[in-house]
Amino acid sequence: MTPRLLLFLSLIGVTVSIIIGGGGGGGYNDHSDHHSHSDSSDSSDSHEHRPHPHRPRPPRPQPGRPPRERTNCPANWLLFTRPEGNWCAQVGRGLVTLQTTNKLQAFVATLGLDQAEAQCQALGATLTGLQSSLERQRLAEAARLLAVQYDIAEGAMWVGGRAKPECTSVSACPDSRNSFYWTDGHTQNGTDGFGWEVGNPMLEYHYLDHSRGISGCATLVFARSGGVVYFWRQFVHGLLDDIWCNGQARMYACGKLAT
Ligand SMILES: *[C@@H]1O[C@H](CO)[C@@H](O)[C@H](O)[C@H]1NC(C)=O
Repeated sequence: MTPRLLLFLSLIGVTVSIIIGGGGGGGYNDHSDHHSHSDSSDSSDSHEHRPHPHRPRPPRPQPGRPPRERTNCPANWLLFTRPEGNWCAQVGRGLVTLQTTNKLQAFVATLGLDQAEAQCQALGATLTGLQSSLERQRLAEAARLLAVQYDIAEGAMWVGGRAKPECTSVSACPDSRNSFYWTDGHTQNGTDGFGWEVGNPMLEYHYLDHSRGISGCATLVFARSGGVVYFWRQFVHGLLDDIWCNGQARMYACGKLAT
């Protein structure tokens, strides 16, 4: 391209831009000067005097973002915050009957393991595991409040813990956190939820009735006082005890996923 042609073309270009720029009237005022620097689509004069509406944009779904934390539990259930997904737990009790022989007295019946599990299933739950000391203490406190309400000095509540099949004695499984597992399918095994009474689990073979096998089920001990219990030496509120699975307990603890 020759220099003369270049000059000619650039003159045309200047002419064209003057015509366009002057199309709106005051071609050389501040507005048209502004327009010449702005996007061609952004051509309204009035937008200079009106603030841009700041509409919040709806959040875009981001790939790999964790789902909303689930924190809903039924009324009067405890919420256990867990990294793997939150959990709801509740303490239930055996049926209350009134004994009227001497005085009006509420009596909380004991339940077998299967009855306790059936109560949980009716609530869309199962006998719960305990993933931490804090969960164990919170559940024991819920039981203590029920004990106050029904005037029960002390007792035990079924939880969803079972001896591992290979743990047929303490010497076979000396690590008390790993001799039992949680049956609810969600509670992490091997955690400090497995806080046992001193010397427990005993994984004790039943010395009278051999059909009972070893003490392979777990209960959480509670006391109205929140302290020492008297039915077994050295036992205190809020720790686990292994009992025979065909035993009885006054309370049980159910658990299910938060929604
Ligand atoms: C805990 O162990 C039991 C028995 O092996 C298993 O069925 C259960 O799924 C385990 N729980 C978790 C959360 O992995």
